[in-house]
Amino acid sequence: MAANRVKTTTMQTKSQPKLAEAWTPDSWRGREARQMPTYPDAAKLQAAEERLTKLPPLVFAGEARKLQAQLARVAAGEAFLLQGGDCAESFAEFSANNIRDTLRVVLQMAVVLTFAGSMPVVKIGRMAGQFAKPRSKPDEIKNGVTLPSYRGDIINGIDFTAESRVPDPNRMVEAYHQSAATLNLVRAFTKGGYADLHQVNRWNLDFVQESPLSARYSDMAQRITEALAFMEACGITSDRVDALRETDFYTSHEALLLPYEQALTRVDSTTGDWYDTSAHFLWIGARTGQLDGAQVEFARGIKNPIGVKVGPDLDSDTLMRIIERINPENTPGRLTLIARMGAKDAGKKLPPILRAVTKEGVSVVWSCDPMHGNTVTADESDLKTRRFDDILTEVRSFFDSCRTEGVHPGGIHVEMTGQQVTECTGGQHGLKDADLATCYNTHCDPRLNANQALELAFLVSEKIKAGG
Ligand code: PEP
Ligand code: CO
Repeated sequence: MAANRVKTTTMQTKSQPKLAEAWTPDSWRGREARQMPTYPDAAKLQAAEERLTKLPPLVFAGEARKLQAQLARVAAGEAFLLQGGDCAESFAEFSANNIRDTLRVVLQMAVVLTFAGSMPVVKIGRMAGQFAKPRSKPDEIKNGVTLPSYRGDIINGIDFTAESRVPDPNRMVEAYHQSAATLNLVRAFTKGGYADLHQVNRWNLDFVQESPLSARYSDMAQRITEALAFMEACGITSDRVDALRETDFYTSHEALLLPYEQALTRVDSTTGDWYDTSAHFLWIGARTGQLDGAQVEFARGIKNPIGVKVGPDLDSDTLMRIIERINPENTPGRLTLIARMGAKDAGKKLPPILRAVTKEGVSVVWSCDPMHGNTVTADESDLKTRRFDDILTEVRSFFDSCRTEGVHPGGIHVEMTGQQVTECTGGQHGLKDADLATCYNTHCDPRLNANQALELAFLVSEKIKAGG
C-alpha cells in the first residue's frame, strides 16, 4: 500500500498535519463552509437533519464501488466517461417525461461514443440530487430591489420575493423524496428494457434522418446498425444477452450542501467504510475547492468516487495537495479531475496542469466540462447562454492537450436536457440569441438541448476516432 501512495514533493510537508486529523461525517463543521446558507431557524434545521438521518439510503455502497472500478478502467485508458444532466434540478420541472427524455439522450450519446472509441462508456447523470447551486454573488438586484440569491430548490425558492429567498431546511427533505422518485424511475428505465441497444439505435437513426447535417452523421449511424445486425445474426440478441437490454447508470451531484450530505452518510455494513448514500459520485465545485475548506474535508472521508472541478485559477501545487488529501492511497477510479477552463484559455492553461499531475504519477480520470468556462450573457435578452462552437472548441482542445501530454482524454461533463429548450445558441439548427426566450426553462445555467447534446456526441466521436 505504501508504495502506492501519491508521490509527494512539496505538498507533503504542508498538508501532513491536517491529514493526520480524524475524519468524521461532521468534521467539516470546523472548517470554512463557502456557499452554504445560514438557516434562520436552527430548530427547524435540526429537525430536518434528524428526519433525513432516518430515511433510507438512495444508493448502495456496492454500487459506488462498482462505479469506482469502472472509473479505474477510464483512468487506465480503457473506457470513457459521459456525465450529463441538468445544471440544477428543480421541483417545478420534475416529471417522468423530463427524466425519461434526459436519460434517453444520455443513452443515445453513449452509443455513439462507445462505437467511436470501441470502449465502454461509463454513464453518470447529473440527476437525482443535483439541486444546490454555488453563486458568484450573494445577492440579486432587480429593479432596485436587493434580495439574497437563489441557491437551488434544495435551499430556497427561485421567485424574486423576500419569503421565497429565505433558506428553508424542509426543502432538503423534499429534494430527498424527489431524488428517490427520480432514481426509482431511472432504475426502472435502465433495467426494464427501455435502454435496449436496438431501441437506442433507432432513436439515433431518427435523429440523423431529421438532421440538416444528415450526410455527416449517417455513416456512423449506419455502421452501428450493421454491427447490431451482425451480432443478431450471430445469436447475440437482447433476450439472451443482458448487456444489450440493460445498462448501468449512476447518479451524481455537487457535494455543496453538507448538512444534507452528512445526514445521508452511512457506514457500509460489509466494509465498515463511510459512504455518502445521496449519490454514487459526488464532486467538489470550482468555488468550494479550498484545500482546508468544508467540502474538501467532507469528501476526503467518504468512499464514493469523487470529482474535483479544475478551473483556470487553480494552480497545480494546490491541486496536488487536494489530490493527496482526497486520494492519499492513489486508488485508481477514486478521483476524477474535471477541467473547465473556457474555450479561450484551455489550450494554454490545461497542458501545464496535465503535465504536473502526470509527473507525480497519480492515477486520475481526466474529464472535460466545456460548459462552465463558456457562459456569456446575450446582449439583447440579458439571458445567460453558451455558444455551441465554444463548447465544441473546448472539448477539442481538451483532446488535443491530453494527447500531447500522453494522457487519456477520459470523458466529458455536460449540462443538458432531453427537452428542445433554447438556452445555448448554435448547433445544426443555428439557434440565435433572438431565439433564446422561446423556451428558456433552466433554473440556473443554460443547457444543451436534446439535438445539441447528441450533435456534440457525434462531433466528439469524430475527435475520438481521429485519435486512433
Ligand atoms: C456546476 O457544475 O454546476 C458548477 C457550478 O460548476 P463549477 O463549480 O465548475 O463552476
Ligand atoms: Co451549471
